[in-house]
Amino acid sequence: MRKINVFDTTLRDGEQSAGVNLNFQEKLEIAKQLERLGVDIIEAGFPASSQGDFASVKAIADTVKGSSITGLARSLERDIETTWEALKESAEPRIHVFIATSPIHMEYKLKMTPEQVIENAVAAVKLAKTRFPQVQWSAEDASRTELPFLAKIIRAVIDAGATVINLPDTVGYTTPYEIGQMFRYVSENVPNIDKAILSTHNHDDLGMAVANSLAAIQNGAGQVECTVNGIGERAGNAALEEIAVALNIRQDHYKADTGLVLKEIKRTSSLVSKLTGMVVPNNKAVVGANAFAHESGIHQDGVLKNKETYEIITPELVGVSSNRMVLGKHSGRHAFKEKLVELGFNGTDEQLQKTFVAFKDLADKKKDITEEDLFALMTEATVGS
Ligand code: KIV
Ligand code: ZN
Repeated sequence: MRKINVFDTTLRDGEQSAGVNLNFQEKLEIAKQLERLGVDIIEAGFPASSQGDFASVKAIADTVKGSSITGLARSLERDIETTWEALKESAEPRIHVFIATSPIHMEYKLKMTPEQVIENAVAAVKLAKTRFPQVQWSAEDASRTELPFLAKIIRAVIDAGATVINLPDTVGYTTPYEIGQMFRYVSENVPNIDKAILSTHNHDDLGMAVANSLAAIQNGAGQVECTVNGIGERAGNAALEEIAVALNIRQDHYKADTGLVLKEIKRTSSLVSKLTGMVVPNNKAVVGANAFAHESGIHQDGVLKNKETYEIITPELVGVSSNRMVLGKHSGRHAFKEKLVELGFNGTDEQLQKTFVAFKDLADKKKDITEEDLFALMTEATVGS
């Protein structure tokens, strides 16, 4: 089984979600929970971006020792030195330095030639290496970069000392097939690639961040970057919980695993949702309120006979106490009876049938059937007969 390192960027890219602003205490609380979850690397922030970010990255680096802490830096001396000041007391100092490599970013944003970008990237990595044992280098907008140029710059930064090479799909543009091709190309065309770990970082603009992350893993990535609940810039980043559970449940297919403490997933998701104010949609995979809820009668009947008929993930695996049978207009007699027995019903089959008919009638008119509704129906059926 291949071990995939989890690089969590909830506190950096995740905090770039519109409307999210975590304070010092909240960041520290999330970092401690990520450590409990078993995340290998926590990107705690962007120390050179503000005094507040510097202070929280430093506090996390000084406190959290079970995960490697990193901070983002542009390819500038000032950013690299500031990041070192924030991280020098961390258990395993690690910097994440980046520069854009796609034609559109080099020409319009950086206003640099490709050769100047290589020079700049090499100088930044060399400087970072004088401070940090672990230097991660990212090719921003890698998925829209010309592959021969990507291979050339990666070779140069590995020679300069980079130990992790991250290839982001910065604008969420790529597809699982294309990202697989990119990782394959780099593995086959960069002669010194065995000196570094390849990493994948995907945004969700076309709803493919998780699929792209899994495709990259299948094609050589040994590190995956993600955020809790998939929060992040624009449509967000690849969701940590979805990647971790997909790898775990489909080990037969991916032959790779993260080693995360999966039973901490629900708690981590709830904490991040509470502190960021970003509500988790009910139908969100793995952590949504409906992820383990069954409403259709056919499904409820199947699950009551054997959970595996309609549940590929056990709720307990991710720290959810049990599945949930939702009683609504699609529910069947079997689940209905189970719920009534749980509420203390001990009437006859005839009374049960009467209650069931009244329940179906009510469910046609009302979306949420509460326990109070069920008690009322039960009483009516038993007292009235
Ligand atoms: O999406 C991106 O390209 C990034 C980089 C800074 C790694 O977040
Ligand atoms: Zn990003």
